[in-house]
Amino acid sequence: GPTLIYTSQAPGPPKTHVVFLKVHKSASSTVMNILFRFGETHNLNFALPVNGASQLGYPYYFLAESVEGFTTGNTSEFNIMCHHMRFQQVQVQRVMPSSTFYFSILRNPIHLMESSFTYYKGSSPFSHAQSLEEFLSQPARFYNASAPDSHYAKNLMAFDFGFNHNGNFSAKHMQLMLRYIEEAFDLLLLSEYFDESMVLLKEALCWDLDSIVSFPLNSRERSTRSPLSESTAEKIKSWNRLDWAIYRHFNRTFWQRIDWSMGQERMQQEVRVLRERREQLAKTCLQGGGSVGPHKLRDKSLAPLQYGKATIQGYNLKPGLDEVMGQLCRRMVTPELQYSRFLYRRQFPEKPLKSMPAELVQVH
Ligand SMILES: *[C@@H]1O[C@H](CO)[C@@H](O)[C@H](O)[C@H]1NC(C)=O
Ligand SMILES: *[C@@H]1O[C@H](CO)[C@@H](O)[C@H](O)[C@H]1NC(C)=O
Ligand SMILES: *[C@@H]1O[C@H](CO)[C@@H](O)[C@H](O)[C@H]1NC(C)=O
Ligand SMILES: *[C@@H]1O[C@H](CO)[C@@H](O)[C@H](O)[C@H]1NC(C)=O
Repeated sequence: GPTLIYTSQAPGPPKTHVVFLKVHKSASSTVMNILFRFGETHNLNFALPVNGASQLGYPYYFLAESVEGFTTGNTSEFNIMCHHMRFQQVQVQRVMPSSTFYFSILRNPIHLMESSFTYYKGSSPFSHAQSLEEFLSQPARFYNASAPDSHYAKNLMAFDFGFNHNGNFSAKHMQLMLRYIEEAFDLLLLSEYFDESMVLLKEALCWDLDSIVSFPLNSRERSTRSPLSESTAEKIKSWNRLDWAIYRHFNRTFWQRIDWSMGQERMQQEVRVLRERREQLAKTCLQGGGSVGPHKLRDKSLAPLQYGKATIQGYNLKPGLDEVMGQLCRRMVTPELQYSRFLYRRQFPEKPLKSMPAELVQVH
Protein backbone atom coordinates (compact mmCIF):
# COMPACT_ATOMS: atom_id res chain seq x y z
CA GLY A 1 0.00 0.00 0.00
CA PRO A 2 1.00 3.66 -0.12
CA THR A 3 3.57 4.68 2.47
CA LEU A 4 3.12 7.78 4.51
CA ILE A 5 5.61 10.49 3.62
CA TYR A 6 6.29 12.90 6.42
CA THR A 7 7.20 16.35 5.24
CA SER A 8 9.85 18.13 7.23
CA GLN A 9 7.64 21.16 7.89
CA ALA A 10 4.73 20.89 10.27
CA PRO A 11 1.39 22.26 9.04
CA GLY A 12 0.30 25.78 9.88
CA PRO A 13 1.98 29.15 9.51
CA PRO A 14 5.34 29.49 11.30
CA LYS A 15 5.05 31.06 14.74
CA THR A 16 6.81 34.40 14.93
CA HIS A 17 6.24 35.49 18.54
CA VAL A 18 8.59 33.58 20.76
CA VAL A 19 10.10 33.90 24.23
CA PHE A 20 13.05 31.67 25.06
CA LEU A 21 14.19 31.58 28.67
CA LYS A 22 17.92 31.14 28.21
CA VAL A 23 18.83 28.99 31.20
CA HIS A 24 22.57 29.11 31.96
CA LYS A 25 24.88 26.25 30.95
CA SER A 26 22.26 24.20 29.10
CA ALA A 27 23.14 24.40 25.38
CA SER A 28 21.11 27.59 25.33
CA SER A 29 23.65 29.49 23.20
CA THR A 30 23.02 27.03 20.39
CA VAL A 31 19.26 27.56 20.70
CA MET A 32 19.81 31.31 20.73
CA ASN A 33 21.69 31.04 17.42
CA ILE A 34 18.67 29.26 15.91
CA LEU A 35 16.39 32.10 17.05
CA PHE A 36 18.82 34.79 15.85
CA ARG A 37 18.99 33.19 12.40
CA PHE A 38 15.25 32.75 12.07
CA GLY A 39 14.57 36.32 13.19
CA GLU A 40 17.21 37.79 10.93
CA THR A 41 16.19 35.89 7.80
CA HIS A 42 12.47 36.60 8.40
CA ASN A 43 13.13 40.22 9.24
CA LEU A 44 11.63 39.99 12.75
CA ASN A 45 12.15 42.36 15.68
CA PHE A 46 14.07 41.22 18.72
CA ALA A 47 13.48 42.40 22.27
CA LEU A 48 17.13 43.38 22.76
CA PRO A 49 18.80 44.59 25.96
CA VAL A 50 19.12 48.38 26.21
CA ASN A 51 22.41 49.88 25.01
CA GLY A 52 23.35 46.66 23.24
CA ALA A 53 24.11 44.91 26.54
CA SER A 54 24.41 41.13 26.50
CA GLN A 55 21.69 40.37 29.08
CA LEU A 56 18.21 41.58 29.98
CA GLY A 57 19.04 42.93 33.43
CA TYR A 58 20.30 39.59 34.77
CA PRO A 59 20.69 38.62 37.61
CA TYR A 60 17.93 41.07 38.63
CA TYR A 61 14.34 40.20 37.80
CA PHE A 62 13.41 41.04 34.24
CA LEU A 63 11.73 44.42 33.73
CA ALA A 64 10.08 45.53 30.50
CA GLU A 65 12.21 48.68 30.67
CA SER A 66 15.36 46.64 30.08
CA VAL A 67 14.22 46.13 26.46
CA GLU A 68 15.50 48.70 23.96
CA GLY A 69 12.64 50.65 22.36
CA PHE A 70 10.00 49.40 24.79
CA THR A 71 7.16 51.80 25.42
CA THR A 72 3.88 50.87 27.14
CA GLY A 73 1.28 49.59 24.69
CA ASN A 74 3.88 48.67 22.10
CA THR A 75 3.78 44.88 22.47
CA SER A 76 3.05 43.80 18.91
CA GLU A 77 6.37 45.34 17.82
CA PHE A 78 8.45 42.55 19.31
CA ASN A 79 8.78 39.03 17.94
CA ILE A 80 11.60 37.27 19.75
CA MET A 81 12.99 37.61 23.26
CA CYS A 82 15.91 35.28 23.99
CA HIS A 83 18.71 36.99 25.98
CA HIS A 84 19.60 35.93 29.51
CA MET A 85 17.02 37.07 32.03
CA ARG A 86 15.62 36.12 35.40
CA PHE A 87 12.07 35.29 34.43
CA GLN A 88 9.23 37.45 35.67
CA GLN A 89 6.12 36.66 33.69
CA VAL A 90 4.08 39.83 34.28
CA GLN A 91 6.96 41.96 33.01
CA VAL A 92 7.57 39.76 29.95
CA GLN A 93 3.85 40.07 29.17
CA ARG A 94 4.20 43.85 29.07
CA VAL A 95 6.58 43.41 26.11
CA MET A 96 5.28 40.38 24.22
CA PRO A 97 1.79 39.82 22.77
CA SER A 98 -0.51 37.28 24.44
CA SER A 99 -0.21 34.77 21.55
CA THR A 100 3.55 34.38 22.27
CA PHE A 101 5.05 30.89 22.45
CA TYR A 102 7.19 30.38 25.59
CA PHE A 103 9.89 27.74 25.82
CA SER A 104 13.12 26.91 27.60
CA ILE A 105 15.76 24.20 27.79
CA LEU A 106 16.81 22.33 30.96
CA ARG A 107 19.87 20.31 31.78
CA ASN A 108 20.47 17.51 34.26
CA PRO A 109 21.72 19.36 37.39
CA ILE A 110 24.61 16.91 37.70
CA HIS A 111 25.99 17.95 34.31
CA LEU A 112 24.97 21.55 34.85
CA MET A 113 26.87 21.93 38.10
CA GLU A 114 30.01 20.30 36.72
CA SER A 115 29.86 22.80 33.89
CA SER A 116 29.07 25.84 36.04
CA PHE A 117 31.90 24.98 38.44
CA THR A 118 34.38 25.21 35.56
CA TYR A 119 32.76 28.21 33.93
CA TYR A 120 32.06 30.27 37.06
CA LYS A 121 35.25 29.39 38.92
CA GLY A 122 35.79 33.11 39.49
CA SER A 123 32.46 33.66 41.27
CA SER A 124 32.55 33.95 45.05
CA PRO A 125 31.11 30.53 46.07
CA PHE A 126 33.60 28.62 43.91
CA SER A 127 36.67 30.81 44.10
CA HIS A 128 38.21 29.14 47.17
CA ALA A 129 37.24 25.54 46.40
CA GLN A 130 39.94 23.47 44.74
CA SER A 131 37.45 21.07 43.24
CA LEU A 132 33.73 20.51 42.99
CA GLU A 133 34.17 17.57 45.39
CA GLU A 134 35.74 19.86 47.97
CA PHE A 135 32.92 22.39 47.56
CA LEU A 136 30.26 19.71 48.01
CA SER A 137 31.93 18.07 50.99
CA GLN A 138 31.55 21.28 53.05
CA PRO A 139 29.37 23.75 51.17
CA ALA A 140 28.89 25.89 54.31
CA ARG A 141 32.63 26.70 54.22
CA PHE A 142 32.37 28.22 50.73
CA TYR A 143 28.75 29.18 50.21
CA ASN A 144 27.23 32.43 51.41
CA ALA A 145 23.51 32.47 50.60
CA SER A 146 23.43 36.29 50.75
CA ALA A 147 26.23 36.81 48.23
CA PRO A 148 24.88 38.34 45.02
CA ASP A 149 26.41 35.63 42.82
CA SER A 150 25.42 32.64 44.99
CA HIS A 151 22.92 31.34 42.40
CA TYR A 152 25.77 30.17 40.16
CA ALA A 153 26.47 27.52 42.79
CA LYS A 154 22.97 26.41 43.77
CA ASN A 155 19.68 25.78 41.95
CA LEU A 156 20.71 27.92 38.98
CA MET A 157 17.75 26.77 36.89
CA ALA A 158 15.21 27.55 39.62
CA PHE A 159 16.82 30.99 39.98
CA ASP A 160 16.57 31.70 36.24
CA PHE A 161 12.88 30.71 36.32
CA GLY A 162 12.43 33.33 39.05
CA PHE A 163 12.37 31.21 42.23
CA ASN A 164 14.35 31.61 45.42
CA HIS A 165 17.38 29.35 44.87
CA ASN A 166 17.94 29.13 48.64
CA GLY A 167 14.31 28.28 49.37
CA ASN A 168 13.62 25.35 51.67
CA PHE A 169 10.47 24.35 49.80
CA SER A 170 7.96 21.91 51.26
CA ALA A 171 6.56 19.17 49.01
CA LYS A 172 3.53 21.36 48.41
CA HIS A 173 5.65 24.34 47.38
CA MET A 174 7.62 22.12 45.01
CA GLN A 175 4.36 21.13 43.33
CA LEU A 176 3.34 24.78 43.03
CA MET A 177 6.70 25.63 41.48
CA LEU A 178 6.34 22.88 38.86
CA ARG A 179 2.75 23.87 38.11
CA TYR A 180 3.76 27.51 37.72
CA ILE A 181 6.46 26.61 35.17
CA GLU A 182 4.04 24.32 33.35
CA GLU A 183 1.48 27.09 33.07
CA ALA A 184 3.91 29.78 31.96
CA PHE A 185 5.78 27.69 29.36
CA ASP A 186 4.46 25.87 26.30
CA LEU A 187 7.50 23.64 25.90
CA LEU A 188 10.43 22.53 28.09
CA LEU A 189 13.35 20.97 26.21
CA LEU A 190 16.28 18.92 27.52
CA SER A 191 19.87 19.50 26.52
CA GLU A 192 20.73 15.78 27.04
CA TYR A 193 18.26 15.07 24.21
CA PHE A 194 19.13 18.02 22.08
CA ASP A 195 18.15 16.62 18.69
CA GLU A 196 14.81 15.28 19.94
CA SER A 197 14.30 18.71 21.49
CA MET A 198 14.92 20.48 18.20
CA VAL A 199 12.42 18.22 16.45
CA LEU A 200 9.79 19.06 19.09
CA LEU A 201 10.60 22.74 18.70
CA LYS A 202 10.31 22.58 14.91
CA GLU A 203 6.89 20.94 15.19
CA ALA A 204 5.63 23.31 17.86
CA LEU A 205 6.71 26.43 15.96
CA CYS A 206 5.89 25.08 12.47
CA TRP A 207 9.40 25.95 11.32
CA ASP A 208 11.33 24.05 8.64
CA LEU A 209 14.29 21.73 9.09
CA ASP A 210 17.02 24.19 8.07
CA SER A 211 15.76 26.69 10.65
CA ILE A 212 16.53 24.34 13.53
CA VAL A 213 19.74 22.66 12.34
CA SER A 214 22.72 23.96 14.30
CA PHE A 215 26.33 23.38 15.24
CA PRO A 216 27.08 23.29 18.99
CA LEU A 217 28.04 26.80 20.15
CA ASN A 218 29.79 27.92 23.34
CA SER A 219 30.86 24.35 24.06
CA ARG A 220 33.92 23.34 26.00
CA GLU A 221 36.98 21.45 24.88
CA ARG A 222 36.85 17.88 26.23
CA SER A 223 40.00 18.41 28.30
CA THR A 224 38.15 20.79 30.65
CA ARG A 225 35.41 18.25 31.41
CA SER A 226 35.76 16.05 34.45
CA PRO A 227 33.90 12.80 35.16
CA LEU A 228 32.03 12.68 38.47
CA SER A 229 31.73 9.85 40.97
CA GLU A 230 28.40 8.37 42.05
CA SER A 231 28.63 9.97 45.48
CA THR A 232 29.40 13.40 44.01
CA ALA A 233 26.38 13.04 41.76
CA GLU A 234 24.20 12.25 44.79
CA LYS A 235 25.51 15.31 46.63
CA ILE A 236 24.75 17.50 43.64
CA LYS A 237 21.18 16.23 43.55
CA SER A 238 20.48 17.03 47.19
CA TRP A 239 22.35 20.37 47.11
CA ASN A 240 20.33 21.39 44.03
CA ARG A 241 17.07 19.99 45.28
CA LEU A 242 14.84 22.42 43.39
CA ASP A 243 16.65 21.95 40.10
CA TRP A 244 16.57 18.19 40.51
CA ALA A 245 12.78 18.30 41.00
CA ILE A 246 12.38 20.53 37.94
CA TYR A 247 14.53 18.28 35.79
CA ARG A 248 12.86 15.06 36.90
CA HIS A 249 9.42 16.43 36.31
CA PHE A 250 10.08 17.86 32.86
CA ASN A 251 12.07 14.80 31.83
CA ARG A 252 8.83 12.89 32.36
CA THR A 253 6.61 15.32 30.47
CA PHE A 254 9.18 15.50 27.62
CA TRP A 255 8.79 11.80 26.79
CA GLN A 256 5.03 11.93 27.33
CA ARG A 257 4.82 14.75 24.83
CA ILE A 258 6.76 12.76 22.23
CA ASP A 259 4.38 9.84 22.74
CA TRP A 260 1.20 11.83 22.32
CA SER A 261 2.37 14.28 19.70
CA MET A 262 4.29 12.13 17.21
CA GLY A 263 5.35 8.78 18.67
CA GLN A 264 8.85 7.37 19.20
CA GLU A 265 9.12 5.94 15.72
CA ARG A 266 8.50 9.15 13.86
CA MET A 267 10.72 11.00 16.33
CA GLN A 268 13.60 8.66 15.53
CA GLN A 269 13.03 9.19 11.84
CA GLU A 270 13.02 12.99 12.22
CA VAL A 271 16.16 12.89 14.38
CA ARG A 272 17.92 10.85 11.68
CA VAL A 273 17.00 13.43 9.02
CA LEU A 274 18.18 16.26 11.27
CA ARG A 275 21.56 14.57 11.89
CA GLU A 276 22.06 13.90 8.19
CA ARG A 277 21.39 17.54 7.40
CA ARG A 278 23.79 18.69 10.13
CA GLU A 279 26.52 16.42 8.80
CA GLN A 280 25.93 17.65 5.29
CA LEU A 281 26.15 21.27 6.43
CA ALA A 282 29.26 20.56 8.51
CA LYS A 283 30.97 19.13 5.41
CA THR A 284 29.90 22.11 3.33
CA CYS A 285 30.57 24.89 5.83
CA LEU A 286 33.37 23.90 8.17
CA GLN A 287 37.07 23.61 7.58
CA GLY A 288 37.98 20.17 8.88
CA GLY A 289 34.26 19.39 9.40
CA GLY A 290 34.18 20.36 13.09
CA SER A 291 35.11 22.77 15.88
CA VAL A 292 38.59 24.04 16.80
CA GLY A 293 40.22 25.59 19.88
CA PRO A 294 40.58 29.39 20.11
CA HIS A 295 44.24 29.39 18.97
CA LYS A 296 43.32 27.84 15.67
CA LEU A 297 40.57 30.30 14.74
CA ARG A 298 41.59 32.30 11.67
CA ASP A 299 38.74 34.83 11.60
CA LYS A 300 38.80 36.69 14.92
CA SER A 301 35.29 38.05 14.31
CA LEU A 302 34.06 34.48 14.76
CA ALA A 303 35.95 33.93 18.03
CA PRO A 304 33.72 33.05 20.99
CA LEU A 305 34.14 34.76 24.37
CA GLN A 306 36.57 32.86 26.59
CA TYR A 307 35.45 32.77 30.20
CA GLY A 308 36.42 31.07 33.44
CA LYS A 309 38.52 27.90 33.35
CA ALA A 310 36.74 26.48 30.30
CA THR A 311 38.20 26.59 26.79
CA ILE A 312 35.40 27.51 24.41
CA GLN A 313 35.52 26.04 20.91
CA GLY A 314 34.84 27.90 17.66
CA TYR A 315 34.72 27.18 13.92
CA ASN A 316 36.68 28.01 10.78
CA LEU A 317 34.57 28.44 7.66
CA LYS A 318 35.62 26.74 4.45
CA PRO A 319 36.97 29.25 1.99
CA GLY A 320 35.29 29.74 -1.39
CA LEU A 321 31.63 29.21 -0.37
CA ASP A 322 29.08 30.77 -2.71
CA GLU A 323 27.07 33.73 -1.44
CA VAL A 324 23.96 31.86 -0.29
CA MET A 325 25.79 29.02 1.47
CA GLY A 326 28.42 31.43 2.76
CA GLN A 327 25.74 33.47 4.51
CA LEU A 328 24.01 30.46 6.04
CA CYS A 329 27.31 28.96 7.21
CA ARG A 330 28.53 32.24 8.70
CA ARG A 331 25.27 32.76 10.59
CA MET A 332 25.49 29.24 12.01
CA VAL A 333 28.96 29.77 13.49
CA THR A 334 28.69 33.38 14.65
CA PRO A 335 29.08 33.50 18.46
CA GLU A 336 26.22 35.04 20.41
CA LEU A 337 27.89 38.31 21.45
CA GLN A 338 28.85 39.20 17.89
CA TYR A 339 25.49 38.10 16.51
CA SER A 340 23.64 40.03 19.20
CA ARG A 341 25.59 43.20 18.41
CA PHE A 342 24.91 42.75 14.72
CA LEU A 343 21.15 42.50 15.40
CA TYR A 344 21.24 45.56 17.64
CA ARG A 345 22.98 47.52 14.88
CA ARG A 346 20.37 46.36 12.39
CA GLN A 347 17.43 47.39 14.60
CA PHE A 348 18.96 50.54 16.02
CA PRO A 349 21.44 51.88 13.47
CA GLU A 350 21.62 55.29 15.16
CA LYS A 351 22.34 54.18 18.72
CA PRO A 352 25.83 53.94 20.16
CA LEU A 353 27.01 50.51 21.29
CA LYS A 354 28.88 49.63 24.42
CA SER A 355 32.45 48.75 23.59
CA MET A 356 33.42 45.18 22.83
CA PRO A 357 34.62 43.13 25.83
CA ALA A 358 38.42 42.88 25.79
CA GLU A 359 38.24 39.08 25.81
CA LEU A 360 36.75 39.17 22.33
CA VAL A 361 39.45 41.30 20.86
CA GLN A 362 42.24 39.36 22.46
CA VAL A 363 41.96 35.61 22.06
CA HIS A 364 44.00 33.77 24.64
C1 LIG B 1 7.71 50.66 19.49
O1 LIG B 1 8.91 49.94 19.63
C2 LIG B 1 9.86 50.16 18.62
C3 LIG B 1 11.01 49.24 18.86
O2 LIG B 1 10.78 48.03 18.23
C4 LIG B 1 10.27 51.62 18.63
O3 LIG B 1 11.27 51.84 17.69
C5 LIG B 1 9.04 52.45 18.31
O4 LIG B 1 9.35 53.82 18.37
C6 LIG B 1 7.90 52.14 19.28
N1 LIG B 1 6.68 52.69 18.78
C7 LIG B 1 5.88 53.45 19.49
C8 LIG B 1 4.62 53.90 18.82
O5 LIG B 1 6.15 53.77 20.62
C1 LIG C 1 27.76 37.11 52.90
O1 LIG C 1 27.45 38.05 51.86
C2 LIG C 1 26.91 39.25 52.35
C3 LIG C 1 26.49 40.07 51.12
O2 LIG C 1 27.53 40.21 50.21
C4 LIG C 1 27.92 39.96 53.21
O3 LIG C 1 27.39 41.17 53.70
C5 LIG C 1 28.31 39.04 54.35
O4 LIG C 1 29.34 39.64 55.12
C6 LIG C 1 28.78 37.70 53.86
N1 LIG C 1 29.01 36.79 54.98
C7 LIG C 1 30.15 36.16 55.19
C8 LIG C 1 30.18 35.24 56.37
O5 LIG C 1 31.12 36.28 54.44
C1 LIG D 1 13.37 22.98 55.99
O1 LIG D 1 12.02 22.91 56.35
C2 LIG D 1 11.69 21.79 57.15
C3 LIG D 1 10.20 21.83 57.43
O2 LIG D 1 9.47 21.96 56.24
C4 LIG D 1 12.48 21.80 58.45
O3 LIG D 1 12.21 20.61 59.20
C5 LIG D 1 13.99 21.88 58.12
O4 LIG D 1 14.72 22.03 59.31
C6 LIG D 1 14.26 23.06 57.19
N1 LIG D 1 15.66 23.05 56.81
C7 LIG D 1 16.42 24.13 56.84
C8 LIG D 1 17.84 23.96 56.40
O5 LIG D 1 15.99 25.20 57.18
C1 LIG E 1 14.65 10.72 31.98
O1 LIG E 1 13.70 9.92 31.34
C2 LIG E 1 14.23 8.80 30.69
C3 LIG E 1 13.10 8.10 29.95
O2 LIG E 1 12.04 7.81 30.79
C4 LIG E 1 14.90 7.88 31.72
O3 LIG E 1 15.49 6.79 31.06
C5 LIG E 1 15.96 8.67 32.47
O4 LIG E 1 16.51 7.90 33.51
C6 LIG E 1 15.37 9.93 33.07
N1 LIG E 1 16.43 10.75 33.64
C7 LIG E 1 16.38 11.24 34.88
C8 LIG E 1 17.55 12.01 35.31
O5 LIG E 1 15.43 11.08 35.61
